[in-house]
Amino acid sequence: MNVTGTLILGFVVFFVAQSWFRSFRKNASYKLPPVVPGIPIFGNTFQIPALQQGPWAKKLADKYGEMFTCQFGSQTWVFLNSSRVVNDLMERRAAIYSSRPPFPMTQGIMSGNSRIVLMPYNEEWRTLRKIMHQILTSTKLYMPFEDLESKQLLWDYLEKPDRWWSANGRYANSVIMSVIFGRRSLLDDPDVVELFETLELFLENQQPGVNIVDAFPVLDRLPKRLQWWRPRGERIFEKTKKVYAREEERLRRKMKEGNQKECFGTAFLQTKEVAGMSETQRLFVFGTLMEAGSDTSRVTLGQIIAGAATYPDWVERARVQLDAVCGHHAERLPQWEDRDQLRYITAVVKEGFRWRPNIAEIGAPTMLIKDDEYEGYRFPAGTVFTWNAWAIALSPDEYEDPERFWPDRFLNDDLASPLKGHWAFGPGRRVCAGWKVGEMNVWIAIARLLYCFDFTQVPEKPIDTMTIPQLTKHTAPFDVKVSLRSEAHAALIRRDCEEVTRIQY
Ligand code: HEM
Repeated sequence: MNVTGTLILGFVVFFVAQSWFRSFRKNASYKLPPVVPGIPIFGNTFQIPALQQGPWAKKLADKYGEMFTCQFGSQTWVFLNSSRVVNDLMERRAAIYSSRPPFPMTQGIMSGNSRIVLMPYNEEWRTLRKIMHQILTSTKLYMPFEDLESKQLLWDYLEKPDRWWSANGRYANSVIMSVIFGRRSLLDDPDVVELFETLELFLENQQPGVNIVDAFPVLDRLPKRLQWWRPRGERIFEKTKKVYAREEERLRRKMKEGNQKECFGTAFLQTKEVAGMSETQRLFVFGTLMEAGSDTSRVTLGQIIAGAATYPDWVERARVQLDAVCGHHAERLPQWEDRDQLRYITAVVKEGFRWRPNIAEIGAPTMLIKDDEYEGYRFPAGTVFTWNAWAIALSPDEYEDPERFWPDRFLNDDLASPLKGHWAFGPGRRVCAGWKVGEMNVWIAIARLLYCFDFTQVPEKPIDTMTIPQLTKHTAPFDVKVSLRSEAHAALIRRDCEEVTRIQY
C-alpha cells in the first residue's frame, strides 16, 4: 500500500473506531429494546441484505417482538414492529420523531442536500413541503389527466400486452409530467427510461450499509480528496441533475417560444420561493415530483396485478360490482363519477398498498431529536426509528390471513380514508406528500384494467409474491399473462381510447 493509501486507512480506522466508541458509550447509558447481535464496530451492517430487506426484518420482529435495535455503523436503529408502537411514537410524538439522520452520500453528495425526502425536520423542509402540498393536494387538477392517461394505458395493454410494466410506468409518469411540465410522455420515451435509471441509482444507494459514509457519517470530515466514494457520488449527482435539467430547459424554451401549456412549472418559475433557491434546489423540486410521482404508482399497480393473478377469487367480486355499474357487455369504462358505487375498487387499492409493501419494505428512517422515554426504554437523541412495514403488513396480529390478497378486509367505516388501515405512505409528519395523487392514479387505472383485462399466472413461471424485486432496470418484476376479457371489451377500448393516442402536447 502506498503512503496515501496508508494515510486514508489510518484516518478511516481512527474516525470509525472513535464514532463507534462514542455511540457505544452513549447507548450504554440509555435503555434500548432488545439488541440484535452483530459484529464489533459494524454491528448488523453486513447482515442486512442490500435489497428486499422486508423478509429479513420480519424474521427479527417474529423473534424479538414489538421493537428491536440494530446497529448500522455508528447509527442506532430501532425497528417498530406493530401499529401500536408506530402510533405511539411516530404519530403521537411526531414533533420529535420526524427528522432524518445524516446521509452524507445519498443526500449530501448525490443530491446536493436538496432531496426533500432526506431533509432534516427544519425550515428548508417546511418551505419545500408547503410547495409540494400546494401542488399535490388539488385532486381536481389531476383527474382529467388520470382519465386521459388511463385510456392510453388501456390502449397500450390492448396493443402490446407484453409491455404491461412499461405501460404502467409511462402512465404514472405521464400524469405527473402533464401537471408539472404540461407534456405527455410516450411508451419507451428515452427521457423516462433515464429518469427511472437515476431513481434506481438513488434507491440502491439509500439502503443501509451500502455506503460506508452513511453508516459512519463522521467520515464526511475526511479531506474531500481522501473520500474514495465521492467521485462515484458526484457522477451520480451530475447524471441526475442532467436528467432533471433537461425538463426544465425544455419548459423554459417552450415558454420563450410561446407554445408552453400553463402548468405547475410555468407558475413555479415565477414564484418568490424560486427566486431564493439555488439551481440544484430548484431542479430537485422538479426531480422529486417526477421520480416520486412515477415509480410508486407503477409499483402499486404491479402489486395489484400480482394479487389478481395469485388470488383470483377477489377479482370475481370486483367484476360483479364493475359489471353492475358499467355493464355486463362492456357498455362503458368506469369513470370518476362511479367512485361511490365502486367501493370494492377502493378496497382493492388499499389492499394493494398493504399486501407486500415493497416501496419501503422496512419503512423510511426518521431521527429522534430529543431524548425520550417509552414503556421502560430510554432513547437518546439521534436514535433512528423506522416502521417495519413488511413485518406489520404480514403480521397475523394485525391482519387476518395477512398473506392473502383480500380487499374485503377494508370494506369498513375507514374505507374512504386512504391513509387508514396500512402504513404504505408512512406515519406522522413525514407522511407521503403525494398520497392523494398516488391513490387516485391507482384507483382509476386499476378500475379500468380490471374491467377490461384478465391477469393470469404463466404456468412455467409462477409468481413468488414474497420476493417481487424492488429494482428491476426496466424489466417487469414478474411474468403475468394479460388477456382481454372479451371482444366486446376490445371494441370498447378501440371506441373510447384510440382518440387519446393522437393527443400531443
Ligand atoms: C402511489 C403510491 C405512493 C406511495 C406508496 C408512497 C410512499 C411514500 C413513502 C413511504 C414515503 C416516506 C414516508 C416517510 O418518510 O415516513 C413517501 C414520501 C414522499 N412521497 Fe410518496 N408515495 C406514493 C406516491 C407519491 C406521489 C404520487 C408523489 C408526488 C408526485 C409522492 C411524493 C412524495 C414526497 C415529496 C415525499 C417526501 C415527504 C417528506 O419527506 O416530507 N409520493 N412516499
